[in-house]
Amino acid sequence: SWTTGNVIEEQVAAIRAQVGDKRAICGLSGGVDSAVAAALVQKAIGSQLTCVYVDHGLMRKGETEQVEKDFVAATGANLVVVDAQERFLTALAGVSDPETKRKIIGREFIRVFEQAQLEILQEDGPEVAFLVQGTLYPDIVESGGGTGTANIKSHHNVGGLPDDIEFQLVEPLRQLFKDEVRMVGQELGLPDEIVQRQPFPGPGLGIRIVGEVTKERLDLLREADAIAREELTAAGLDREIWQCPVVLLADVRSVGVQGDGRTYGHPIVLRPVSSEDAMTADWSRLPYEVLAKISTRITNEVADVNRVVLDVTSKPPGTIEWE
Ligand code: XMP
Repeated sequence: SWTTGNVIEEQVAAIRAQVGDKRAICGLSGGVDSAVAAALVQKAIGSQLTCVYVDHGLMRKGETEQVEKDFVAATGANLVVVDAQERFLTALAGVSDPETKRKIIGREFIRVFEQAQLEILQEDGPEVAFLVQGTLYPDIVESGGGTGTANIKSHHNVGGLPDDIEFQLVEPLRQLFKDEVRMVGQELGLPDEIVQRQPFPGPGLGIRIVGEVTKERLDLLREADAIAREELTAAGLDREIWQCPVVLLADVRSVGVQGDGRTYGHPIVLRPVSSEDAMTADWSRLPYEVLAKISTRITNEVADVNRVVLDVTSKPPGTIEWE
């Protein structure tokens, strides 16, 4: 019968058989799937696994620390953190078109990750032949199945490596649905903040700043987002809402008043939605008291934000994210 204990035992045995005495790499995104996949592989092969986390500077408050500290403490995994914040900011400078931002973030991410892979490949030790991925059952059904390999190209002029390196994929979550992955993660001792995390887009806060992405704007949005999340959690609404993007309208200003003075600040948009699968969504009818608390705190605590607005659009016609 299906128990998380059985799943873990089976997968650990399967991973050991597949990897043998070679080494594996796993990219961590901060999300549930990659964290649980990495934790399973870590349990199976220990120090033969190296995890890589690219810090693109677009994560929410505390999320990088969750990976760097809590994930490592819970699993004992070898983790390489690449601080690429400056690189991403430079690449995004002057860009406000949403699709262009997404392309830049995706491209830089792959470049940084591949560079980190190449460095790990050059370390002494057994051959690095495997790449761990947190593919779930629904991902496989959607893409028509098949297990595979992944190539990286050593186009960064790192000496002594073949032109094209092929990894075999290790996908220990291939038979699982999201709720099962969360149960496995919990059983493996991962912290709730990681295991129960709501969906968050790969391009991160980069697509929640309408306008150009800058360090100052990211810091501001991180503060507003942290307040919204804190209050939604305190109100016990995490399970009820699918996710709640918090969006900074960086190119919009409106007049306000604070103390004796007139302000001219930015609006923050709250986008709480309920959904089954993100394909369609409805805006969540959050209690007014919770909205009021979030609004008061954000306008009091976040400099340069003087207005909080609520997005009451369903999907369709709106998307969940603003970009
Ligand atoms: P939209 O905005 O299209 O979002 O209604 C649907 C769901 O997908 C998430 N999302 C992304 N996830 N990379 C991701 O991993 C992305 O580029 C991306 N864009 C949107 C979004 O948060 C929502 O859950």
